[in-house]
Amino acid sequence: MQKFHDKTNINAKKNLTGSSFIDYRTQPRTYKKYPHFFLSFNINDYEELGFLNNIGKITDTKTYGNESIQLRVNPSAGGLYPNEVYIQLRGIKGLVSGVYHYMPLENKITLIHELSNDGLEYYFKEKNQKKFIFLLSNAYFRSSWKYEQRAIRYLLLDTGHILGSIFAALELENIPFDIDFNFDKEALNSDFSFDNYESFYVAVSCGDYKKIEVKKLRTPIVNVCACDYQIKDTFIEEFYKNSFKDDFPIISNIDLLKDINKKILYEAINKRRSIRAFRNKGITKEDFLFITKNIFEFASKYDLEIYFINNNISNMKKGIYKNVKLQKEGDFKETAIKLALNQKLAGQSAFTLFFTSSNIKNYFYLYILSGFISQILYLRTTSINLSSSGIGAYFDDITKEFFETSNNIFYVFAIGK
Ligand SMILES: Cc1cc2nc3c(=O)[nH]c(=O)nc-3n(C[C@H](O)[C@H](O)[C@H](O)COP(=O)(O)O)c2cc1C
Repeated sequence: MQKFHDKTNINAKKNLTGSSFIDYRTQPRTYKKYPHFFLSFNINDYEELGFLNNIGKITDTKTYGNESIQLRVNPSAGGLYPNEVYIQLRGIKGLVSGVYHYMPLENKITLIHELSNDGLEYYFKEKNQKKFIFLLSNAYFRSSWKYEQRAIRYLLLDTGHILGSIFAALELENIPFDIDFNFDKEALNSDFSFDNYESFYVAVSCGDYKKIEVKKLRTPIVNVCACDYQIKDTFIEEFYKNSFKDDFPIISNIDLLKDINKKILYEAINKRRSIRAFRNKGITKEDFLFITKNIFEFASKYDLEIYFINNNISNMKKGIYKNVKLQKEGDFKETAIKLALNQKLAGQSAFTLFFTSSNIKNYFYLYILSGFISQILYLRTTSINLSSSGIGAYFDDITKEFFETSNNIFYVFAIGK
């Protein structure tokens, strides 16, 4: 894994990776659409599916000249949305039990496989029937089209963000769930006929259904191209193949949003946006403590070390912190901007977090969890009318030097006013 990480570094001392010029007219399509003869259903016509409203729908449209860009519940590096979501449903009144594909633009689901004695549970360790199973995939070309090899990182982070959206949607309805990385991804990718262009990263399962062991999917699932065209990238496919050799513990009972009133959480899910420029204002220590409640503990449980630069939190010494311990006092606004590839967000924030880890064995999982935790940070921040943004572009080498760490740097996240 280290070699893949090192190959996708952006270094101040070497050249930047990624192309400097991009022709936006060649952007591949960011959503998957099945032919008209597949049956689609409106989520809002089914009361039991209400929670699906909050996993990935369009929440805003921005117009730039003749172009209009639709923004979703979940953020995405460069707004490229490489993720697809599939949902297996059992026992929903008025719907056949089956595997459905989620369509964010229409907020509908399309039936792509009707269940008999088969099901997705077959590919998991726990083979008894579940009420819902979410499968999250990536169509990598949507991201590699712009970010080339560095896309491996953004695919993982984007996955973490949409995983966080699903978590928040379930939390809103008090639905218990398991985040599970350990299913047979190779077999499922093959049975979904993805041909390596799209692949599964993580699953979420909810609710026991019947105690019946299910069989392998009895027919391959029809695939339609996730983009309108695609270019193979063997580096990304190789990375994916090498990523999930070891198991990772199932994650459930997460206490990261429980303290937020449901109405406020609902509004935060629908209002969340990435800030384009902070007003350079400070926040209080109480705000900081609220936003990061349980976050450092959760991260360190999984071997993630979070550094942060306090630019402007009142009643807290300005400087560099590792987890919540002050390492070095000082004003590091300008350095923060420099580390983030000269993006002002990192220095004009009240504080900017840096997700890091030395654990290379669990690289794939910890990278996704960095995105997941950041999605929680987006929501906690929005819930108190503050702003934030993910920052995927930063100098790897000088960030490591600055924090005096040999950890890999995974993600930067700025929070402020
Ligand atoms: C993994 C990731 C990396 C991102 N990196 C940057 C960045 O380096 N600079 C920036 O200004 N925004 C960054 N963003 C924010 C995206 O541009 C933003 O999510 C996207 O345009 C959609 O807008 P929204 O988040 O308001 O819905 C990033 C978002 C994600 C999820």
